[in-house]
This record gives sequence, structure tokens and C-alpha cells, in this order.
Amino acid sequence: MQFADQYSIVTDQITDLSKLTLEHSTIDTSLYAKYDVKRGLRDLDGHGVLTGLTEISEVWGRQKDENGEEHEVDGILRYRGYDIQDLIMGHPANDNFAFEEATYLLLFGELPNAQQFAEFKELLAKYRALPTNFVRDIIMKAPSRDMMNTLARSVLTLYSYDHRDDDTSIDNVLRQCLELIALFPQLAVYGYQTYKYYHDGDSFFIHAPKAEYSAAENILHMLRADSQFTKAEARALDVALVLHAEHGGGNNSTFTTHVVTSSGTDTYSAIAAALGSLKGPKHGGANIKNVQMFEDIKANVKDWTSDEEISAYLLKILNKEAFDGAGLIYGIGHAIYTKSDPRAQMLKSAVRALAEEKGRLDEYELRERVARLAPDVIASKRHMYKNICANVDFYSGFAYEMLGLPVELFTPLFACARISGWSAHRLEELINAGKIIRPAYMNICEHQEYIPMDNREITREDIKRQVKKEFFNLVDEREAERDKSRKELRDKVKDKIKERL
Ligand SMILES: CC(C)(COP(=O)(O)OP(=O)(O)OC[C@H]1O[C@@H](n2cnc3c(N)ncnc32)[C@H](O)[C@@H]1OP(=O)(O)O)[C@@H](O)C(=O)NCCC(=O)NCCS
Repeated sequence: MQFADQYSIVTDQITDLSKLTLEHSTIDTSLYAKYDVKRGLRDLDGHGVLTGLTEISEVWGRQKDENGEEHEVDGILRYRGYDIQDLIMGHPANDNFAFEEATYLLLFGELPNAQQFAEFKELLAKYRALPTNFVRDIIMKAPSRDMMNTLARSVLTLYSYDHRDDDTSIDNVLRQCLELIALFPQLAVYGYQTYKYYHDGDSFFIHAPKAEYSAAENILHMLRADSQFTKAEARALDVALVLHAEHGGGNNSTFTTHVVTSSGTDTYSAIAAALGSLKGPKHGGANIKNVQMFEDIKANVKDWTSDEEISAYLLKILNKEAFDGAGLIYGIGHAIYTKSDPRAQMLKSAVRALAEEKGRLDEYELRERVARLAPDVIASKRHMYKNICANVDFYSGFAYEMLGLPVELFTPLFACARISGWSAHRLEELINAGKIIRPAYMNICEHQEYIPMDNREITREDIKRQVKKEFFNLVDEREAERDKSRKELRDKVKDKIKERL
């Protein structure tokens, strides 16, 4: 048996122990209401608990009118006060550096003039250099199936190459953040190339990044064997990077950045933690799940134009009877947005154009049906206190797929963008020297008196487990003996043959 197989086995002993963990860790849900616990740091109407102030961005799904009454609105996202739509539409369409412009804005709080922007792009190009042999020594070692884990490992290892690793002064942290922003596309793409080589036996190639390329262009250049891409492809990816670059201080991975930064730790540890958060299927991992879910829907819904059949299948997904059994319709819903997610709205038109170009309009229309029907299906089964809509991940995975980007890179691409937002928030947390983030958890466990080992009860279950263990040990011993005597017999036969020949 391979080590990995043995290491990954959940034995009966582990299953029994996990039953104990479950028994002693399951909390009566009514207690949350009793003690007014803000689960998920949200109040009962879904509003986030106010835990900080930020100047980096704002996200709205509801707004108050002049009478103080709150209404659901089309989603609003602003970076440093600028509407996301203006940032994308305002940037020249034939230039694929909108993400770099947004990054400058997020980090420094104002739009760069031509001179400042040229210098900033040069700085990023300079930082696009990995330590010598980093690909061979780190990325190619023990390749993971998940590029987010590979990315996090690379980030953590960069600490060892930094002579000012633990220095949390603002200029040093800014330097570290700029390096990470510049390096993320390489770390992600090279991690993927390694994975393809080891897991799929594909040819291995490493294209060095080009100084004159933007992040979007470099991703396409490094990913493709022939390095070719069109302006339109780079533009679509550039827009996707801008849309994913930042999303307020409360989103799970950015809040993680605040929490971990507030302990005073180094940049690499804080960003690795944020990557771990982003990987989750309820957060950045939803774009992969969404594409997989659509494969499942396409295979199981016969008539893609039938609202009834689609709704019935969505209900099955929600009831954990179909797809991955998690009960989630991926790409739908958001903690803040209600009527619409502005990022999804911006991507949607690009996705429609791509679908038309690639002859996949029927799939686009199926998606539109799911986006329309899913909120009602969810509302029929879950307690809703607001409208929900398709979120950015409903369209990003499909867009990446049509651009020929591999599914393994969907969430890492999100990370290549969000590193800009995480960086801005880490700096903001440090600059404002916040207190260590340390909310409260109420203990509801009864106090116990310590019982010496000899006085503890041995249960029937313990005895059964012990007997079972002894039985299986005996079976193992017998099997080992049998294998040994078979081997001895085989050796004897071999010797006999040798004698006679
Ligand atoms: C994003 C998400 C985690 C937000 O969760 P949330 O803030 O709890 O959302 P809401 O408060 O509006 O949800 C109310 C209820 O509907 C459920 N719900 C919301 N969206 C859902 C979805 N897409 N599928 C199934 N159930 C969903 C929630 O789990 C919650 O149920 P509960 O009270 O039994 O826990 C949630 O919508 C989700 O899991 N979506 C699917 C994953 C996804 O697309 N993530 C990417 C986000 S950009």
C-alpha cells in the first residue's frame, strides 16, 4: 500500500473517536438565539456586525432612503470611492492594464497619472523574478492536486528567502506585498504546469514572464505552450481581475487577513491564511463548483428550456440529493448583494458575447434560466430575509472555461486578483495599529471534576472496540504468518528448480 493511501485511511478507530467529538461538540441551535449570538458575525437580518472602518472599498446591497428606511438596491461596488464600472469602462479598451491601475488605486488611494503609472508598471515588472531555482526546489516538489495549496506553500516558503521577513514596518510590508502581487501569476501558473506534468503526464514547460506584459497577458502567455493570445482574451481576463481585486473588509479572506495581521505576524503567514480562506467552496472555490454543477445539470436535465424540469433538479441539489451533496446552488446568493451583484452584471455581457462567438448560446440561456429560478427554489427551502441573486462566480468560471483556462486555475486566478485587496487591507490594519482581533465565545459546557484514570468507567463500547482490535490484530498476524510461509515455500521451490537444472 502506498504511503498516501495508508495516510488517508479513516480507520474504524478514527470513526469511533469522531463520534465522541460530534457528541461533545454539537451545540443546541436554540442557544444561539437565547444568548443573542451573531452567528457568522451577522445579525438576524443578515447585516454584518460592524467590526472595522476602511477607506479601501464599499459594497452595498441595501441602502437607506431619506426617511431612514432601508431598501434593496442593485449592487454597488466602489474601490476608493470609484465605481467599479467606471474603473473598467474608463480604462482604454485596447490596453490590458486595468488590473494594475486598480491595484495602484487600492494600495495608494488615488488614480495614478501617466508618469506614476509607467513607474508602477516598471516596479511590478522588476518584482516578477522568483528566487533562483524556486520552481525546481519548491514548486516542483510534492505537487498538490489543488493549486491553492501549492500557491499557499509557495507564499509561505518565500518567507525563507526574505532578509526582512518579520519586519512589519509599512515600507517593508508594502515591498513584500508588491512582490507577491507581481509573483502570484507565476506561482499559480507554474504550480499548474507542474501538476499537469506529474498528474497527467503532459509536457512540462516554463515560460518566463515578459516585462512589457500586464498580469492578464502574462497569465495567458505563461499558460499556453505557444504563448499566443488575442487582445480580446487578455481584455476579458483583465476585466475579471479588476472585478475580483477587492470586496470590502468583511469578506471571508480579507477579514482573515485583518484577523491574522492584527496578531503582528509576517506578511507571508497572513497571505497564506487568506489563501486558505479563499479556497473554500462558499468563497472563491465557488467558481469551480459552479462549472462542475453545470456539467451535472446539463447531464441530468433533458429539456434545457423547461422551467419545471430545471427547478425540480435545483430542488434536488438543494435537498442534497444531487451533485456534490452539499445542498448549495453554487454561484447564487451573497452575504450583502440582494437584487444584483455588479461584478456579475459586468461579466454577464462579456460572457454572452463569448458564448455567441463559441457557439454555446444554449448553455448561456440555460444559465440565465438557473439564475432566474434558483432564488425562488432556495427561498422555498431556506429562511430568507432578503432577495438573492447570481453572484460573480456564476459567470467567472464559465468565462474562464470559454477562454480555455483550466478549471484548476479558476480559484488561483481569483487569488491573483484579490492579493491586491488583501495587501491594501493588511497595510490599513498595520497603519491603524488596531487591537488584536479577539471576539468572544460563551462557554456552555458544564464544569466537571477531574477523575483519576483508574476510577474512570470502561464502557461496553470500549470493551467491544478492544475485542475487535484484538481480533483484527490476530487476523493481521495470521496473514503475515501465511505470507511468510508462502514465501518460504516459494523459495524452497526455487531452490529445488535450481538444484535440478
Ligand atoms: C454566499 C453565501 C455563503 C452567503 O451565505 P449567507 O450570507 O448565509 O446567505 P443568506 O443569508 O442570504 O442565506 C440565507 C439562507 O439561504 C441559504 N442559501 C443562500 N444561498 C444559497 C445557495 N446558493 N444554495 C443553497 N442555500 C443557500 C443560506 O445557507 C441560508 O440558509 P441557513 O439560514 O439555513 O443557513 C451563500 O449564498 C452560498 O453558500 N452561496 C453558494 C456559494 C457561492 O456561490 N459562493 C460565492 C459567493 S461570491
